[in-house]
Amino acid sequence: MGNAGATRRGSIFSKQDSTGDEGSTRHNKRLSSRQNTLLEEEEFPPEPPASPPPEPLTMRQKELLTETWKLLEEDIAKVGVITFVSLFETHPDVQQSFMPFKGVDLEDLKHSRQLRDHALRVMAFVQKAVARLYEPDKLETLLRDLGKKHYHYGAKQKYVDLIGPQFILAIQPSLVDQWSQETHSAWTALFLNMAYIMKGSMAAEERFKVKKTAT
Ligand code: HEM
Repeated sequence: MGNAGATRRGSIFSKQDSTGDEGSTRHNKRLSSRQNTLLEEEEFPPEPPASPPPEPLTMRQKELLTETWKLLEEDIAKVGVITFVSLFETHPDVQQSFMPFKGVDLEDLKHSRQLRDHALRVMAFVQKAVARLYEPDKLETLLRDLGKKHYHYGAKQKYVDLIGPQFILAIQPSLVDQWSQETHSAWTALFLNMAYIMKGSMAAEERFKVKKTAT
């Protein structure tokens, strides 16, 4: 983590997929070039210092993700519901920020059709992400778009970081025989990278809104 950024090349999803001055660097450049376009006036808040990008996924991690996802697929609705119910249990403020789930008893949520549908949408995205591990540019575009949507849904950036750890706890019972520190690290790395791009895009949307409001 410490040496993040300067030595990174390629999409942050891949060390191997390097194509020169791209990936996290390009991502930051895109954000800052957008910022430069928008930031002509002094009152526009400066871009906060970018947190260092997470470690890109290794080939081994991509393989592990692909293999373990195949095993998870049949349990995915259950995994999605458990992910969100545990997220709401441990972070009630996140539940309150979801309009349809605000104030709903957790026991009722466990059987809620709406929660299941939402969880399935999120899981379908994880499936897309796993399917695009070897097409990092496409994955980055999808994540930026998703981040932008989440800004408009009113999701807070800090909440985006909370999904990965809950998802990882939820998949463990389905992967007992395959579970290892390596598997854990691979899923952690995927969610860190996804959250990093989504949050960058949410922050860019916020700056855009501030700029629009100011003019
Ligand atoms: C890694 C994190 C996350 C992923 C991958 C994810 C994924 C998704 C996807 C794929 C959708 C459907 C978008 C569409 O249909 O166009 C969605 C919708 C939504 N998400 Fe997330 N999400 C994440 C985190 C969060 C968080 C932390 C919040 C709020 C605290 C949130 C709130 C919402 C809301 C309000 C919607 C719209 C309603 C709905 O589709 O049911 N999401 N999310």
